[in-house]
Amino acid sequence: MERKEFIKRYLEFFHKKGHKIIPSASLIPEHDPTVLFTTAGMHPLVPFLLGQPHPQGKRLVNAQKCIRTTDIGSVGDSSHLTFFEMLGNWSLGDYWKKEAIEWSFEFLIKELKFKPGQLHVTVFAGDGEAPKDGESARIWQNLGIPGERIYWLGKSDNFWGPAGMTGPCGPCTEMFIDTGKKPCSKTCGPGCSCGKYFEIWNDVFMEYNKTAEGKYSKLKQKNVDTGMGVERTITMLQGKKNVYETSVFLPVIKRIKEIAGIKNENGGQENSIRIIADHLKAAVFILGDEKRIHPGKKDQGYILRGLIRKAIRHGNILGIKENFTEKIAEEVIRIYQEDYSELSKNRKFIIEELEKEEALFRGTLERGLKEFENICKKSKNKILCRDAFLLYQSFGFPIEMTCELADEKDKKVDVNGFKKEFERHQEISRQGSEKKFKSGLADTSEQTTRLHTATHILGQALREVLGSHIQQKGSNITAERLRFDFSHDKKMTDEEIKKTESIVNEKIEKAMPVKREEMTLEEARKKGALAFFDGKYGEKVSVYSIGKAGQEFSKEVCAGPHVQNTKELGKFKIVKEEAVAAGVRRIKAVLVS
Ligand code: ALA
Repeated sequence: MERKEFIKRYLEFFHKKGHKIIPSASLIPEHDPTVLFTTAGMHPLVPFLLGQPHPQGKRLVNAQKCIRTTDIGSVGDSSHLTFFEMLGNWSLGDYWKKEAIEWSFEFLIKELKFKPGQLHVTVFAGDGEAPKDGESARIWQNLGIPGERIYWLGKSDNFWGPAGMTGPCGPCTEMFIDTGKKPCSKTCGPGCSCGKYFEIWNDVFMEYNKTAEGKYSKLKQKNVDTGMGVERTITMLQGKKNVYETSVFLPVIKRIKEIAGIKNENGGQENSIRIIADHLKAAVFILGDEKRIHPGKKDQGYILRGLIRKAIRHGNILGIKENFTEKIAEEVIRIYQEDYSELSKNRKFIIEELEKEEALFRGTLERGLKEFENICKKSKNKILCRDAFLLYQSFGFPIEMTCELADEKDKKVDVNGFKKEFERHQEISRQGSEKKFKSGLADTSEQTTRLHTATHILGQALREVLGSHIQQKGSNITAERLRFDFSHDKKMTDEEIKKTESIVNEKIEKAMPVKREEMTLEEARKKGALAFFDGKYGEKVSVYSIGKAGQEFSKEVCAGPHVQNTKELGKFKIVKEEAVAAGVRRIKAVLVS
């Protein structure tokens, strides 16, 4: 069965069972600053799993694009991928274990025609924090799965979530297809990495909420969250041994071999071909996302850069000398563009960014590899953090790539030391730019300073008019205008715009003092200051308050610069209010004197 047909059948099956089909969300999470990418179909649904009513009701289904980097070291084996599509059906406080498991079974056996005898399942064995899941085991038994094909596993295998640091989670039951391969050992079973058992689906019973203190409290409602891997399931449906032999990878693999001039690959080449295919597919989807991520030094951009550079290095191993990443990207776009129109819409951006990144990295790769050889000669069995940092800073080697190179030579890398060094440098450059800012090298004209202060008043006015959910998502200030992006999923009405404007003007007219204080981020939070960009602050932060002590209208962590009194601002006017992404609105405003 082809990918498209399979996805269609899944969506239709659950649609018939009362589920509303919802679109795939962005790969960049909207509500969760603790993770860089959407790692599962449930991720964009967290607020609804926590109890907020979903506009489409209590039963949902979709195919979600996902990126997971936790398993990146396993990429190249038969089933682990960085980018994948996940099918999911959800019950938001509606049906529970019986329906979820029975429908999974019905879909696998009746729709996909797997034989009941091929199916092996795992259930949660229980621990001090959550009891064993006998209910799921009984449901499987009633469906005819005998006890010897039901495996009891602990938390690391059979308790799923939360997706970030906190949030909904619970015990799960996973479904595996027996490939018919010989067991690798006496203890071989689902969860073993030898490839005999192919995991394709996971039903999670989310009744817990993991708190910031690491405790598991009961959620308001019992939810079902399932995740079925598209690539893995079609591997089984197409009778293949691994995901790379399926129709969603074959054209990409073929193209890589063509470019490298390989007819029959050996084991090492096969591994490189698979890594290139996986990493560049992930890179194409990240670049193709509406959020327009560029390869860079931080956050998603850093991961993206690492994926592209590792792919180029593996191209180098295969002897590819010319730029090739954009050629592979074209194949990926061809396969997915019908279902993800953002890929064709952003094709130019994807190709240009790949070209730029490849040109940049090809300039240093060979020299960096030579340097790596020198480092290896002088090091015993550990690459020191300063050498790893040199490879990063002078030759652009992501740490993951240095680890891979070291691994090939049976050496270890001081990764923790590297990370500390990396953070220290980021801090230095951050301070550098702040100093530059303060000393007036950046644009700190009087007008931008005024607009900066106006941004704080605007943010607070929006919270008063639209609600406390308003968070700043970004801002950009030129001498002419301010631009302010914030989380809100509806267009503002004319009345809301007017009200916001008049609150800002009222605060300006009140001639409120603007005060700066320095403290740690923790102290700032305790004093009620807002800080929107988690993890990007130094040891001490500046807190700007607007209004008299004790009656402040706004209090925010910010690097400034700001006016001393709001009376310096003039008249505030919103000139535009528009959408920039799902759930993010943008206001453009000016100050007229
Ligand atoms: N959220 C669950 C998973 O990713 C379904 O496995």
